[in-house]
Amino acid sequence: MSLYVEELGELVEVQEGKTRVLVPNLEKYKVEKKIEPAHAPVFYNPAMEVNRSISVLAIETYRRMFDLKTLTICEPLAGTGVRGLRYVNEINSVSKVILNDIDDRAYKLIRLNVEHLSVSDKVDVYKEDASALLLTIRSKYIIDVVDIDPFGSPIPFIHAALRAVRHLGLLCVTATDVGVLVGRYPHKCIRRYGAKPIRAVPFSKEIGLRILIGTIARIALEFDYGVKPLLAYYEGHYYRAFLLVGKDTADARECVENLGFLIYNPEDGSRTFVRTYPVAPGSGAYGPMWIGKLIDPEFARELSRVLEEYDYLKSNRKVSELVQLFREEAYLSNVVYMTSSEVCRGLGSEISASTIVSLLRELGHDACRTHFDKRAFRTTLSLSEVRKIVSLYRS
Ligand SMILES: C[S@@+](CC[C@H](N)C(=O)[O-])C[C@H]1O[C@@H](n2cnc3c(N)ncnc32)[C@H](O)[C@@H]1O
Repeated sequence: MSLYVEELGELVEVQEGKTRVLVPNLEKYKVEKKIEPAHAPVFYNPAMEVNRSISVLAIETYRRMFDLKTLTICEPLAGTGVRGLRYVNEINSVSKVILNDIDDRAYKLIRLNVEHLSVSDKVDVYKEDASALLLTIRSKYIIDVVDIDPFGSPIPFIHAALRAVRHLGLLCVTATDVGVLVGRYPHKCIRRYGAKPIRAVPFSKEIGLRILIGTIARIALEFDYGVKPLLAYYEGHYYRAFLLVGKDTADARECVENLGFLIYNPEDGSRTFVRTYPVAPGSGAYGPMWIGKLIDPEFARELSRVLEEYDYLKSNRKVSELVQLFREEAYLSNVVYMTSSEVCRGLGSEISASTIVSLLRELGHDACRTHFDKRAFRTTLSLSEVRKIVSLYRS
């Protein structure tokens, strides 16, 4: 199906999950045969479908864990509306979704999609600045979930999002400025996130995610709130975090306990977290950052149970693989991963991360794969201890 709409150009119907929405025909916005979603009149990125599918599962998991009978979700940077409309269509007990976009054409398309799906009783649509909306709608709705899915960094919207979401609500955040967070532009990271990133090490990707969460945690602490990751992950070109927001002083106290710095010693490859926040422990320190778990084990278990009930998402290989890995690595998600190439350097040919994990487990050590990198794994042992075990195994 396709139709032409004034200002929006040619629209086509696409299906994501169980939801059919109208989006700009991206075939018309190709540059050198590559789709450029940012060139379309309204932003729609098909590469974010996995992000949206995992979000459906994560919000449903949150709803079940907190036994919520109704759910009010606000998506203040909604683009075509596809994300929020998937929530209406695919998550149990969603009573209200508030969709907003500052752009005229996005607003028009969201309203068209609401009509297209016949969900106007459950969806309210606004055309305001995201932060202004978040700060004002608190008097009208009790918001269980705020989903911040912007271009680039989410930080400009975090203050207002934290204000808007209720105590023990869920803050969902996407960051696509991965290059900044992994230290490719260190000065930008210092400006935007107030943290020193670590560049060009095999585990930069994990540290980038920890800096993102650490910055959100420090903003929460300004209000004496706390955040706790239920699930935080990396995929391809973005970070995504689902954070529980607690508004009691006890939540803020627990949150600050999970801030710290990374000390990296390139000589022996050791990577250690220290809880000296707010004082950096020395010149070899990176951060500040979140040093606690990135994935809550109970949440990851429930997430995989939820996936079992979503056949159409379970059949997506990437989604299933991620959910499985989140479950495997949750209990060790407070130790930084290492890669098989770091372990095997100078020991002859490389053996796979899965083989190393099996070997360590056979010897009774804690070890698991990680979703960050298929050549990486987590263990409580140090790099030199793992190297010793691997070299004995090979001889
Ligand atoms: C990455 S897109 C959103 C994609 C959408 N969440 C999805 O899953 O398809 C970001 C959107 O934010 C909107 N936007 C940018 N700045 C804004 C602001 N200050 N207030 C509200 N919307 C804004 C843009 O018009 C754009 O549609």
